[in-house]
Amino acid sequence: MNGNLIIKNAAELVTCSGFSAKKGDQMSDLKIIPDGAVVIKEGMIEAVGTTQDVFAKLERNNTDVSGFDIIDAANRAVLPGFVDSHTHFVFGGYRADEFSWRLRGDSYMEIMSRGGGILNTVQATRKAAMEELVQLGIKRLDSMLSFGVTTVEGKSGYGLDGDTEIKQLEVMAHLDKIHYVDIAPTFLGAHAVPEAYKGKEDEFIEFIISDVLPQVVERELAEFCDIFCEQNVFSIAQSRRLLTSAKNLGLGIKLHADEIVPTGGAELAAELEAISADHLLQASAEGIRQMAAAGVVANLLPATAFSLKEPYAGGRSMIDSNCAVALATDFNPGSCFTESIPLIFALATLYMDITTEEAVTALTINAAAAIDRAKTIGSLDVGKYGDLVVLEYPSYKFIPYHIGISTVGKVVKKGNLVFDKEKGGVRYC
Ligand code: NIG
Ligand code: FE
Repeated sequence: MNGNLIIKNAAELVTCSGFSAKKGDQMSDLKIIPDGAVVIKEGMIEAVGTTQDVFAKLERNNTDVSGFDIIDAANRAVLPGFVDSHTHFVFGGYRADEFSWRLRGDSYMEIMSRGGGILNTVQATRKAAMEELVQLGIKRLDSMLSFGVTTVEGKSGYGLDGDTEIKQLEVMAHLDKIHYVDIAPTFLGAHAVPEAYKGKEDEFIEFIISDVLPQVVERELAEFCDIFCEQNVFSIAQSRRLLTSAKNLGLGIKLHADEIVPTGGAELAAELEAISADHLLQASAEGIRQMAAAGVVANLLPATAFSLKEPYAGGRSMIDSNCAVALATDFNPGSCFTESIPLIFALATLYMDITTEEAVTALTINAAAAIDRAKTIGSLDVGKYGDLVVLEYPSYKFIPYHIGISTVGKVVKKGNLVFDKEKGGVRYC
């Protein structure tokens, strides 16, 4: 495991080349190199090109290839590792009962208003020991890795108090050290209104700003601050207040915006120059136009719409409005209990009129941009981390075509082969 690896003879090297979010038409150009090769040295990409050109260069530089592992990717497509840019993967307990209630007709917001939903998971997460959350986290990250995810964003938000919010973020910091998958942590202390603050939402926001946020920033436990900006949860004014404070303390900002009811979340994301606004099922055309102009990534979560039986976000019109669109799972115990990347591809292509090329961009370079990491991951470019997937098929076009099934054969993280379907799954060193 020295991070030295050469991939050669890839039928398609899908580079997704770029160092920032791709908007509109740019999302269709995957910058594919036929018969491609990649050289990764000490975890970083050192060369990308055709196999012939890359090997000619190695020879010119007198590189001793015996210090590199070699993967022959003949008849296989190679892509950047997927980035899952919106998840809530650290939580205690499950909510299978609520899923059944929803099948019988109860809505997500009804269940939430009678004390279920997020507050149910808050109780279980407050009770869970750190070690238990770490073990659950490992299991969930292993599963994500098997789908080709090499970096994941994870949110707190199942504490709604100082101790548990910090516990969730500490779990993520620990998992980031011990697991192959890299974690971008987000502070979501304003995810729901806890029982004790019902009707006193302004006071709760004040508590988060003055008591919890400073600890999170001081201890460098989060890169982003997020909020559930929704009717009957947190208003536009409350969201503006918390996110402005977080931004002033140096955090990037994100919003769960316009998910169930249109409230002007997209417009607020543009006003505050958020890194991303997420969900956006009900976002207005004007809000999307403003987001495109402000360079806010529209992070769409089709599996949540699917699971809640809500209409999908207008991905097609967002791309046509020159917005940068990313896609993510929203893995969480309530509205969307899935880490399945194949499901996201299926829903985005078949139900949102997003093309396969756009979906690949949305789960690689644009997803990296949605967590402000487009300079270091999300594409196969010299100088980035050597994170990639080798498919079992010769083209990226097989990803949505093989409906609901993972086409990922191997996963490479920082130049090390960490998942191999032929060898029984995730490798432990
Ligand atoms: O992104 N909408 C709010 N938050 C999550 C759901 C969290 C939960 O139900 O536990 C979401 O869908
Ligand atoms: Fe979410």
